[in-house]
Amino acid sequence: MKLLATLCLGLVLGLAASLPLADVAQGDEGVQEAPLPDRCDGLEFDAITPDEKGNTIFFKGAHLWNGFHGPAQLANELFKELDDDHHIGHVDAAFRMHDPDNHDDHDHIYFFLDDKVFSYYNHSLESGYPKAIQEDFPGVPSHLDSAVECPKQECATNSVLFFKGHDVHVFDLDTKQVKTKTWANLPVCTSALRWLEHYYCFHGHNFTRFNPVTGEVSAGGYPKDARNYFMKCADFGHGGNYEILKCSDVKLDAITTDNHGKTYFFAGPIYMRLDTDRDGLHAFPITRGWKEMTSGVDAVFSYTDKLYMIKGDQVYIFKSDAHHTLIEGYPKSVKEELGIEGPIDAAFLCPDQDMVHIIKGGHIYDINLLATPRAVTRDFPLPFSGLDAALCGADGVRVFKGPSYFHYESAFTLSTARIAPVAEKITHANMGCRE
Ligand SMILES: *[C@@H]1O[C@H](CO)[C@@H](O)[C@H](O)[C@H]1NC(C)=O
Ligand SMILES: *[C@@H]1O[C@H](CO)[C@@H](O)[C@H](O)[C@H]1NC(C)=O
Repeated sequence: MKLLATLCLGLVLGLAASLPLADVAQGDEGVQEAPLPDRCDGLEFDAITPDEKGNTIFFKGAHLWNGFHGPAQLANELFKELDDDHHIGHVDAAFRMHDPDNHDDHDHIYFFLDDKVFSYYNHSLESGYPKAIQEDFPGVPSHLDSAVECPKQECATNSVLFFKGHDVHVFDLDTKQVKTKTWANLPVCTSALRWLEHYYCFHGHNFTRFNPVTGEVSAGGYPKDARNYFMKCADFGHGGNYEILKCSDVKLDAITTDNHGKTYFFAGPIYMRLDTDRDGLHAFPITRGWKEMTSGVDAVFSYTDKLYMIKGDQVYIFKSDAHHTLIEGYPKSVKEELGIEGPIDAAFLCPDQDMVHIIKGGHIYDINLLATPRAVTRDFPLPFSGLDAALCGADGVRVFKGPSYFHYESAFTLSTARIAPVAEKITHANMGCRE
């Protein structure tokens, strides 16, 4: 598959592009009202939380920002009870509940102010709230600095971390027990956010990534300026967060699901994860995940705990761990590794199989990864050519061509197909692109 650099560069608008600064609202008689706060000025946020749809909301005083770009608005426009009746000029802390066993609470947003807690769902205050913090979270102090959810995949049990000064109160949602630790090495977090399985402590206009179990600061040069990563500010780097592709313009280079269930799609210089819509969908440069892949990919497939990335006549094999470590000795030629000449158009492997299917021109080639040396064992003509990418999952095989795809029940039905089925469109629902 060809890297359509012009197309993709046109689509990928770096967030560094200039944008309007916060408007200064003018009253009807030209009386100047208080200007909206501008997060590009370098604010310290009161709280940051995702909502149930995966939008990340930033709070400061009576204002909020809904998402990573856009101007401020009054918080009570989105959360109407955060108004004067409740004397709420700001929130201390907020998080999105992760408690899937408890449908009444799961995905609710909790706000904390002084000694009170407010539970919202679908932007409405739940009945019975506000309550005393102690009623819902016994043992958790008042006047918090910040809070963040920590699901059991990351914290052993579904928990919430409540920060106050250098103390963190870890609340176990099942046992309702609190363990208090002191993390003196971490700055005092005035807001905290779990985003794409990582944990961020915000302090001043900076943020620091940390381990939610030990409090250790992650390697990588923290603190960093939030304006370079979590918002779109003129004069600040965009931190590699790119705008999502428009569905009608999507042209995939590759797509795969790894052994952790993470689904990545690749298009030109960017990649997206499709399994993280709870945190919103985001596009990043491929080099952020795989620094050696500086000119994109032609095909990617997953096998055991490895990701095979193919570009031109080279294959790069990465561990599918968090660091995407390139295996020693790679890249190697596609011919040496797989017994077929590169470049190729697409590749896929079905779950728990050892047979990789390589699509090249109008043919599909089967290669058994258990055999040495590797060689093509079967070769079938396909009812179409110029395919971009292919993915095999529990529901069959999808082969992608421009903004459409074709669905087959299995690799076998694809191999033996003599006519193309009706093309289906790539949509927001199936590929996370913009409609
Ligand atoms: C969410 O709130 C809106 C407006 O208040 C309402 O129309 C919609 O039905 C609500 N959705 C759910 C799932 O409760
Ligand atoms: C932000 O971080 C930089 C270093 O990356 C540091 O020099 C600066 O003092 C920090 N500012 C605040 C307000 O924390």
